[in-house]
Order: sequence, then C-alpha cells, then structure tokens
Amino acid sequence: MLQHVPDVLTPDELIEARRLLANAQWVDGKVTAGTQAAVVKNNQQLPESAPEILALRQLVHGALNRNALFFSAALPSKILPPFFNRYSGKTNHYGFHVDNAMRRTPDGSAYVRADVSATLFLSEPDEYEGGELMIEDTFGRHAFKLKAGSMVVYPSSSVHQVTPVLEGARVACFMFIQSMVRDAEKRRILYDIDISLMQLRQTVGETEAVVHLTGVYHNLLRRWAE
Ligand code: NI
Repeated sequence: MLQHVPDVLTPDELIEARRLLANAQWVDGKVTAGTQAAVVKNNQQLPESAPEILALRQLVHGALNRNALFFSAALPSKILPPFFNRYSGKTNHYGFHVDNAMRRTPDGSAYVRADVSATLFLSEPDEYEGGELMIEDTFGRHAFKLKAGSMVVYPSSSVHQVTPVLEGARVACFMFIQSMVRDAEKRRILYDIDISLMQLRQTVGETEAVVHLTGVYHNLLRRWAE
C-alpha cells in the first residue's frame, strides 16, 4: 500500500527543519547503502556526527507521534532514527533498488526490521526539477513529488528509485519502520477497516454495529500483531 500522509510537519516545524539543514555538511550517501544499492546510489546524506541531526530527529519523531494517519498505515513498533539526504548537482539520483530488510540502529546495539519505508519531503516541488520518488508495487509504477512537510509511506519490499534532479536541490528525510504487523496485505486490511470506522463514527456515531466492528479491528490486530 502506498499512502500519502499530508502535512506531517507544521509550517513552523518545516521552517525549523530547513533552517537546521541550511548549513549542513553533507557526505556521500553510500554510507547507509547495502553493496548492491551502493552501485546505484548517488546522493548525499547527513552523517551521524552532524551537530544538527539530534534536533532534526526529535522534530520528526514528535511529528510522527501525533499523526493518526501515519499510525494507522504503518502500525509502527520501532522507528529507526530518521536519515536526511540531498540530491543536487553531480550527486543527484538513486537508481532502482530495494531497501535492506534488517537495519542496525546507529549505536549498533540492535537490528530493526524494515517493513515500511517513508520519505518526508523537505523541499518544495518547484525548488527542483526531476527528483521524483518512483515506487513499483503490484499496482504498477507510481511517482511522488510531494509538497514540503508531506510524506509517502510504502512497503520496504517495493522496488523504488529517485529520478535524477536536473536543477535545484531536493532535500528529504527518509526512514525505516518495523511494523507491529509485518505482512503488508494484513496491514492494508487493518488500515481499510480503521479508516472506514473513523468515517462511520463521524457519519452515524457510536452505534452498536460500529462498536462491534471496532472489536473486529482490535481482534484482528491482536491476532496479527507481534
Ligand atoms: Ni530506498
């Protein structure tokens, strides 16, 4: 499932994130790529040693924690600290690849299984040319170029690429999430029920049927969650 999550950051948070990144010292993006992905990865990334990375991560975590749509779509159990990247000039694309299944935490103490990937756009679409996130899933190819502060959530198992940025600079935040429900189809069913329930609560209220359906949602989550 590909899910667009609009306005993850408030306007003030977006300004703050961009301010923090304005003078960042970027390094070669290959630092976090597996050997296969490294061949096609040609971008820049904020290193773990960057002085602004902690504040940026706290800002993004705070925004994710209050976002009901993100929660419903990803059902996150562990979120790897977000990374930040930049596509511009000669380091301007990331060819088709799949994300590694297991990711070590930055301190090296544990692994997080990547079930869900997410890209949070930090540059406005008119600030760069090209730079689309292209994702292939069972429904075909989809390209995303969202407004700054908005995010796309997609299964980590999908093949995806960032097309060359031909002009300007594309700065984004990307992250890997271990879901409580590792199977993408099961996550989709839960998401569909959850969204329908939210709409039903608004249109018909907490009727007996809505309460029962809510029970079905939680019973499925109980069966499927790890
Ligand atoms: Ni990727």
